[in-house]
Amino acid sequence: MSRMEDRIGEILLNDRVADGVFKIRVKFDSLPEEIRGGQFAHVKLNDRSRLLRRPFCICDYDKSANTIDMYYAIVGGGTKELSTYAAGEKIKVMLPLGNGFRPDKNFKKIVLLGGGMGSAVLPAIPRTDSQFEYYTYLGFANKGKVVLEEELKAVSKEITVATDDGSYGKKGFATSILAQDMERIRPDAVFCCGPEVMYKALAKSLEGFDVPIFVSLEARMGCGIGACLVCNCKVKRNGVEEYARVCVEGPVFRLDEVAL
Ligand SMILES: Cc1cc2nc3c(=O)[nH]c(=O)nc-3n(C[C@H](O)[C@H](O)[C@H](O)COP(=O)(O)OP(=O)(O)OC[C@H]3O[C@@H](n4cnc5c(N)ncnc54)[C@H](O)[C@@H]3O)c2cc1C
Ligand code: FES
Repeated sequence: MSRMEDRIGEILLNDRVADGVFKIRVKFDSLPEEIRGGQFAHVKLNDRSRLLRRPFCICDYDKSANTIDMYYAIVGGGTKELSTYAAGEKIKVMLPLGNGFRPDKNFKKIVLLGGGMGSAVLPAIPRTDSQFEYYTYLGFANKGKVVLEEELKAVSKEITVATDDGSYGKKGFATSILAQDMERIRPDAVFCCGPEVMYKALAKSLEGFDVPIFVSLEARMGCGIGACLVCNCKVKRNGVEEYARVCVEGPVFRLDEVAL
């Protein structure tokens, strides 16, 4: 696993890109040697009264420019504050944290499945492991929430966008649309990031298909480096229930190991 470091970064852009969603690009003096899709950054806010950092996945990165991109939804005070930062401001970021997606080298075809803001995990996967064929499925509540379609189109063999209300792309849940395409694509693995309700739907939709499914879990976080246990989640390995720290053993787990 790559070594995590705390770095000072300069904000290059921080723009609204969809309803309640911002894209932030941060430049550092250097980036860690290895960053994997599915790893995250722990961002310290400049308002000192907000002691806890906020975790955001590393959506994409550029090793030559020493930049990372993150996409975030405004849900509370911290993300609201982040959205007010202008280009040129500095922030402290610990990265890369967590295990990330680790495809088997024998894989050929991988399905990327994103639900809402969870889609922000996906671009860094083909950035890190460009040797595979990617079939991408994105699901959003409505047209106003759609993000990252163009970025993912550029690195996918096929891409399908769906909205719950049919206001953009196909109408319906991305999980059901994927289930209809499974026989044709026959992927070696499914990598998914979305809300928990999507993981339940995914497990049901792909019942009967013999394919490993990996999901990225969200948990409240404190330290982000394995010391506080705030992020503990229940997993089942070899029939035995145990706790795992989402920030270190995760956030990526096999879906059949997770207690939803
Ligand atoms: C590994 C990981 C990756 C994530 N990636 C993204 C991403 O790419 N884009 C995105 O929009 N969101 C992402 N989230 C969720 C994001 O961290 C929260 O939405 C954010 O911390 C909320 O902060 P707030 O101050 O606005 O909200 P508040 O609700 O005011 O936050 C209060 C406290 O709870 C913590 N907190 C609240 N919600 C979450 C949450 N869901 N997960 C962890 N801590 C939380 C905050 O750190 C803060 O300490 C991710 C979460 C995890 C665990
Ligand atoms: S956030 Fe502290 S152990 Fe995971």
